[in-house]
Amino acid sequence: MSRFFKSLALALLLGASMPAAFALDDFAAVGRPATPAEIKAWDIDVGPDFAGLPQGSGSVEQGQAVFEEKCAVCHGSFGESNKVFSPLVGGVEKGDLVTGHVAALLRKDFPARTTFMKVATVSTLFDYIRRAMPWNAPKSLNNDQVYAVLAYLLNLSDIVTDDFVLNDRTIRDVQKIMPNRNGMTYEHSMWPSPVFSGKPVKPDTANTACMSKCKAAPELVSSLPDYALSSHGNLAEQNRSFGEVRGRKTAESAPVAEKPTPLKIAETAGCLGCHAINAKGVGPAYAEVAAKYKGENASARLVAKIRGGGAGVWGDVAMPAQEDIKDADLQAVVAWVLAGAAEK
Ligand code: HEC
Ligand code: HEC
Repeated sequence: MSRFFKSLALALLLGASMPAAFALDDFAAVGRPATPAEIKAWDIDVGPDFAGLPQGSGSVEQGQAVFEEKCAVCHGSFGESNKVFSPLVGGVEKGDLVTGHVAALLRKDFPARTTFMKVATVSTLFDYIRRAMPWNAPKSLNNDQVYAVLAYLLNLSDIVTDDFVLNDRTIRDVQKIMPNRNGMTYEHSMWPSPVFSGKPVKPDTANTACMSKCKAAPELVSSLPDYALSSHGNLAEQNRSFGEVRGRKTAESAPVAEKPTPLKIAETAGCLGCHAINAKGVGPAYAEVAAKYKGENASARLVAKIRGGGAGVWGDVAMPAQEDIKDADLQAVVAWVLAGAAEK
């Protein structure tokens, strides 16, 4: 565990979350301290300075075998992940290894963001794969397998050659040519700067805080170019575990459920069993109801009347309480009746 997180954990434990009346001693009878071996089993993080990196090694070739067996099912044989999640590999050019900045991140015609385009530290990949992958069996790889599979991904990204062997020493050389190694910024408020960056914090938005007379609604903008908005198909059809990569425009082929007309609602709710539009049935014709209340503001009263039922306005026969129809539907039907109950 890094010193930062250790002190953070301690601060949380002792600080704000702990009511003042409690001290750690109060829990002396609960459990027992974790043993060094137990802590070690969980303490597996690898820092950007490679602190915590375990020994081990693996070749590109070995990694290909691991990847095919344990990763390709979700990430595609070449890390392209085209049917599942964001691609791991792609978008990196030779020149990026020199500059440490992935040029494609600035290209408007290149909307994809692959893992290798973004990640600045190779230690992060090692750490993440060892801790979290394969998704369905995290922590099931041994250290050599993690080295190997990472070597394979580095090779797919043209960062290392086919005969490369990644180990706890060569990984340091890889860091020196990671394509986006200079792409990490600290000058934003995600970082409690200046502790980390030594520079003043730049807020993530240019807005000024507002407590009154604020703008009515936020304006949503997308930085995706138009042609990219629908490049990943219809999201509504992709609410399942496997699908195309994400885009933003979702309506194109989305089946829009048709909103039922008030006439349809009245029919479904059973109103038309007793009411017709132009003829008296058990209850009055809706056209007559409309005529009777023309110019009045009768809707709230009628909603209540229908909800509770009642007699006496149109005769002695009572309308039974209409309890099943939803409020919004009832309001829509009453508005429609009062507006003349158009037959559409
Ligand atoms: C069952 C599906 C599945 C398998 C198998 C799998 N992964 Fe993943 N992988 C995922 C998912 C889902 C994510 C995103 C997880 C998240 O964001 O929390 C992911 C994320 C990743 C990432 C980070 C991507 C990023 O840009 O954040 C890497 C690297 C990765 N996987 C490597 C591997 C490797 C190496 C293996 C094989 C040892 C593997 N995965 C096996 C589903 C899988
Ligand atoms: C079982 C028969 C029956 C059903 C079902 C029925 N009604 Fe009625 N409705 C009546 C009768 C009878 C009256 C006349 C009541 C009166 O004279 O006060 C009436 C009156 C009304 C009125 C006029 C009320 C007034 O005070 O002027 C409206 C509007 C109305 N119904 C709408 C509806 C709606 C909407 C539904 C469906 C959610 C519905 N009714 C279901 C029998 C029915």
